[in-house]
Amino acid sequence: MVMAPALRAFAAADAVRAVPNMFDPASTPADAIRELSFLVIGISAGIFVVVSGVLFWCIYRYRQKPGDDSEPPQVYGSNPIEWAWTIVPVLIVLVLFLATARTINELQASEVPPNAMKVTIVGHQWWWEIRYPDQGVVTANELHLPVSTDDAKRPTYLALESADVIHSFWIPQLAGKTDVVPNRRNLMWVEPTQTGTFLGQCAEYCGTQHAKMMLRVIVHTPAEFESWAASQRASAARDAAVADGRAVFENTACVNCHKLDGTIADGKFGPDLSHLMSRTTIGAGAATNTKANLRAWIDDPHQFKPGALMPAMKLDDAELDKLTDFLLTLK
Ligand code: CUA
Repeated sequence: MVMAPALRAFAAADAVRAVPNMFDPASTPADAIRELSFLVIGISAGIFVVVSGVLFWCIYRYRQKPGDDSEPPQVYGSNPIEWAWTIVPVLIVLVLFLATARTINELQASEVPPNAMKVTIVGHQWWWEIRYPDQGVVTANELHLPVSTDDAKRPTYLALESADVIHSFWIPQLAGKTDVVPNRRNLMWVEPTQTGTFLGQCAEYCGTQHAKMMLRVIVHTPAEFESWAASQRASAARDAAVADGRAVFENTACVNCHKLDGTIADGKFGPDLSHLMSRTTIGAGAATNTKANLRAWIDDPHQFKPGALMPAMKLDDAELDKLTDFLLTLK
């Protein structure tokens, strides 16, 4: 598969599982789904081998022989055969159904343990809002989670909501897909058992930039997670050296859509910018979060993400430089 340069940079930005592979699970629900998929693939492969074997055997065995132009014997109605090809598929479907129902039940019926992390995810066209109600943290597009070990189990329960259309939340290595539906709250859970970065993707066509509605999940040790949460909770940096850039920000339409701690900006349409520079990418994975990309993004987001709902900001070069320098301080 050939990846666009921006996507390749996105995947390579840190030591990530660059391929979101459901056969390489790192979370309890994803393990259960892989086991089930092996059963389903095994049964399907068995059916394929038997059916194509019988087919090719018949083609060979009953092929027309040279000099034989007679009509083959015509057989109508055979009760044993009718019964066999009715009952065998019914049994196969029953096995697949019961196995699937058992896995779904195992995953959905689990009670939320008291020490579970709770995160609310809101799907937007085309980015993910991420809220940690217990930690008082709001971020976007990069979901940080603590690892769960045998000694200290720490599953995370996710409440999924949508601000506009139907999206689907999917991190193949952590859990199955769950639809994100307006006016509904869908629940799912993950329990990452390995640290590292995992990639996810919106999995329901939701408009022009559906493909660039990516997600990265960073699984930390518990101590790392706590220090990440503390740094996100802290108020946004306030550096007098970039006061000019702050003024550009506050006098531009940025403030209508974004929230930035300590400024008048309290918008809800776009990502919270208070700790923008703690994120690896901008535009939900559309570009890596570097100075050059950030400046180009503000100048015109559509060069990275055509159709993105953020408009080109129409600033002159000096304003762009000041604004970029200001944003760069938001660690
Ligand atoms: Cu959101 Cu596709």
